[in-house]
Amino acid sequence: MQSTSSSSFFVGEHLLMQKINAMVRRVATTDATVLITGESGTGKELVARAVHTYSPRASCPFVAVNCAAIPEELLESELFGHVRGAFTGALAARVGMFQLADGGSLFLDEIGEMSVSLQVKLLRVLQDREVRRVGADQPVSVNVRVIAATNKDLAAEVEKGAFREDLFYRLQVIPIHLPPLRARRSDIPLLVQHFLGKLNLKYGRTIELAPETMVYLWEYDWPGNVRELENLVERVIVLSDDDVVVPDELPSYVRSFISEKKLPNPTLSNGELDLQQAVEQFENRLIDEALRHANSNITAAARILKVNRTTLIAKLRRRRSAATLLPREDSGDPQAG
Ligand SMILES: Nc1ncnc2c1ncn2[C@@H]1O[C@H](COP(=O)(O)OP(=O)(O)OP(=O)(O)O)[C@@H](O)[C@H]1O
Ligand SMILES: [Mg+2]
Repeated sequence: MQSTSSSSFFVGEHLLMQKINAMVRRVATTDATVLITGESGTGKELVARAVHTYSPRASCPFVAVNCAAIPEELLESELFGHVRGAFTGALAARVGMFQLADGGSLFLDEIGEMSVSLQVKLLRVLQDREVRRVGADQPVSVNVRVIAATNKDLAAEVEKGAFREDLFYRLQVIPIHLPPLRARRSDIPLLVQHFLGKLNLKYGRTIELAPETMVYLWEYDWPGNVRELENLVERVIVLSDDDVVVPDELPSYVRSFISEKKLPNPTLSNGELDLQQAVEQFENRLIDEALRHANSNITAAARILKVNRTTLIAKLRRRRSAATLLPREDSGDPQAG
């Protein structure tokens, strides 16, 4: 696992990520079940691996099962194993993932896709700490730490009756929510540098991004989050002829994003104008620009803006609390670092 600083297992200095980093280290020392939520590509698996890596179980296996990738009828035997002849095709006995992960951690990815009948069996395993192979009479005890992840809203699934409430509460003893990348834009330059370093090495290149190119990456909304960013960096490294990537070399959907985005352009509507709001929008825009130039370094950004570092931090805090009040407005919120 890469890091920007020795205290972090992932790239990111946004306050939200610092909190997650601290949380991961704290829960790693326990055996508590962790439920990691977040949009696709936000780093759920990375966090799951970190919980294992920092735990006393690190020398035992980390076993990952993608519940969405395995057909329902096979998932039970995949998880719990089966005895010979348990069902048609069960020619030999098989050990399940729970037993393979014994002493270590089992990562149940896309847990929201698990059928309700299997959810019941999983709950029993979590409570009794023993598994029964398909077709077996006797259970065997297992010592496994379970880490689950989903990009679904499990509480809503519970509401709909698609996910069992008892299992939901059993899983989310420690909930960790990964914010989308657009809610922590100040991490974008750091991630870009991280992936440039890693992928330049892989392809034997020395590609950099022109500062204008970074503007587009900062403004883009990243529906596929960090994975999308990583793929884009790989794409420009592979396709670029020059050492410095200019905006023209970005995919058109990234380039056209800024122009489609509503830029603050205050005018009188119905003969009125909220001056304070207009000024704040404009100020936010300049702060974003300074942070971008400063590669998200708050001290350097404050110097560019000719304000005190503490003043800038206060402004960023104010923006963040405004963003928390409006949960849907999660874009463009760089933070104090
Ligand atoms: N903070 C980060 N620092 C460095 N790399 C990251 C970070 N977050 C995610 N990545 C990288 O982005 C990619 C996607 O991360 P990951 O597979 O953990 O996401 P995910 O949330 O499990 O996605 P999905 O829901 O699509 O399975 C991986 O290559 C991972 O290493
Ligand atoms: Mg994943």
